[in-house]
Amino acid sequence: KEAELKLCRFPLESVRGVPLMRPIAENFDSIWEFNPHPLDLLIATYPKAGTTWTQEIVDLLLHNGNAELCKRAPTPVRSPFLEIVSPKPIPSGLDLLNKMDPPRMIKTHLPIQLVPPGFWENKCKVIYVARNAKDNLVSYFHFDRMNQTQPEPGPWDGYISKFMRGELAWGSWYDHVRGYWLQREQKNILYLFYEDMKEDPRREVERIMRYLDLSLSDDIISRIVALTSFKNMKENPMSNYSCIPTHVFNQSISEFMRKGEVGDWRTHFTPDQSNTFEEDYKNQMKDVDIPFRDSV
Ligand code: A3P
Repeated sequence: KEAELKLCRFPLESVRGVPLMRPIAENFDSIWEFNPHPLDLLIATYPKAGTTWTQEIVDLLLHNGNAELCKRAPTPVRSPFLEIVSPKPIPSGLDLLNKMDPPRMIKTHLPIQLVPPGFWENKCKVIYVARNAKDNLVSYFHFDRMNQTQPEPGPWDGYISKFMRGELAWGSWYDHVRGYWLQREQKNILYLFYEDMKEDPRREVERIMRYLDLSLSDDIISRIVALTSFKNMKENPMSNYSCIPTHVFNQSISEFMRKGEVGDWRTHFTPDQSNTFEEDYKNQMKDVDIPFRDSV
């Protein structure tokens, strides 16, 4: 199947009620069977919540802040995307993982109920990053404009509705953030917020360091904070996704490293759209109290 896969904006297909790009849905059995090593680490997010940023921080922490070592390959090669099935020549996540020795740093956007059970059986560490709904939605909208493998975003107003109804790839943001939140203690998941990382990156880098049972010097931590600033990551060809050909990620439409801010939703939502969104948000999130902030 993979060899025949042609680049297109893949339609979504439901896997246990979660819309996923068709090649992922068709391959889901082998994804579900993936058996990680206990030392493998999973970085899980809803798309556009700060995955790449966290991958870079973790890689630098694991390599004692060595910038050169962390430029050994682009992000998706250093930290494979578990479920992705891409048109050739881009390798699929499972192909890359099967050629790598543990400990591996694995990325996923799967909601918690679709994470392969081997991660829990092997007690792998899991870092989850959540971003406030409105900024997450804005970032996803621009990403869907430029990513030629995801469904067309269509007009902005309709995109908001699709987000609210959980119809975008990887499904409902509300279920995603809630699922990991409710199981974070039982499953020893480190649950981070994009807004906290923006507010005090050093504090959050240190939090990740402790979770990984590492202890780095203050100087090295400072270096990691600097290397993972938005500006430095945008300029770094190994973290800015310039590795993906332009017919797949058309960064002339919108850059992967787009703005990197909290509160950009204000430049997109009209007051009416914001009110409608917030009413629906209260309803969808009424059973859970996750401390999201849409400004810092
Ligand atoms: P914007 O589109 O709002 O700019 P992901 O890696 O999960 O796909 O998330 C991408 C989002 O994280 C983009 O948000 C991107 O700019 C932002 N981002 C990436 N690196 C960042 C960094 N070092 N600091 C702040 N934001 C970053």
